[in-house]
Amino acid sequence: MKLTAEQLAQFEHDGYLFFPGLFTPAETKTLTDAVPALYARREAYNVREKGSDAVRTNFAAHLYSEPFAKLARHPRMVQPVMDLFGEALYMHQFKINGKMAFEGDVWQWHQDYGTWKNDDLMPTERAMNVAIFLDDVNAFNGPLMFIPGSHRKGVVDARHDLTTTSYPLWTVDHALITQLVERAGGKNGGIVSPTGPAGSMILFHSCLVHASTSNLSPWNRVSVYLSLCAVSNHVRRFKRPEYIAHRDFTPIACLPDDCLLTHHPVDLPWQNGLPASALVTTDVPFDQARQAA
Ligand code: SIN
Ligand code: MN
Repeated sequence: MKLTAEQLAQFEHDGYLFFPGLFTPAETKTLTDAVPALYARREAYNVREKGSDAVRTNFAAHLYSEPFAKLARHPRMVQPVMDLFGEALYMHQFKINGKMAFEGDVWQWHQDYGTWKNDDLMPTERAMNVAIFLDDVNAFNGPLMFIPGSHRKGVVDARHDLTTTSYPLWTVDHALITQLVERAGGKNGGIVSPTGPAGSMILFHSCLVHASTSNLSPWNRVSVYLSLCAVSNHVRRFKRPEYIAHRDFTPIACLPDDCLLTHHPVDLPWQNGLPASALVTTDVPFDQARQAA
């Protein structure tokens, strides 16, 4: 899938592109059908909502679930980002966020690159999120909220929030959010929420400021996020477990466009469980570790 000159200009300006209904219902169903069994697993890679059994985030399914392994190599998700960066990509993070009916909790305002920089020592913002909706997303089930153009501010001040939700995040304070929303148009477009049918895709810049509210509706809002990083921009520290921030910088090789509906052998290295090495973490950046060795 090639981005047009108009789409590239819109991405530069707004920091995101929305593709409603990009994947067909049959393609989306191959993914949706696999989610309940993944969420039922009692594994470290299923992070549950605070005080609830509902899954907030499932990490790294592309390493143990065939349909998601194919999605991680899907040209509709990967090719536009390769074109934008002009470079091969590796998977920095892969998540299936639940935002389950009645139980899905907030994601505070943040930039993803803030967390990748502070926790993983990712050198620059040459990484991108690509999301696909597995459920219809509407105004009531906690859609993503973006501040258009906020990516053009680069990395903004953030604070490590370890308490609000079950998942630590570098979040942006309310005074700065107020300023950014004003600058983006205030009540006239200062916050936008792409909504649409299951199978819709969003591509968004790693510095785009975003959040989502809790889901008090009776409708799940399951979405998959591929966080794709330029290979030359790989992380320099393994402070977080490998199922959260990946350590394999091998370039992604795309499958054919019809891969979700056809057979393609894919590697599933964690099919029989999480390797112990994936839980090992260190505060020491690579360069220092190499010098000390
Ligand atoms: C995220 O910001 O990483 C997730 C937000 C959401 O799923 O609503
Ligand atoms: Mn995010």
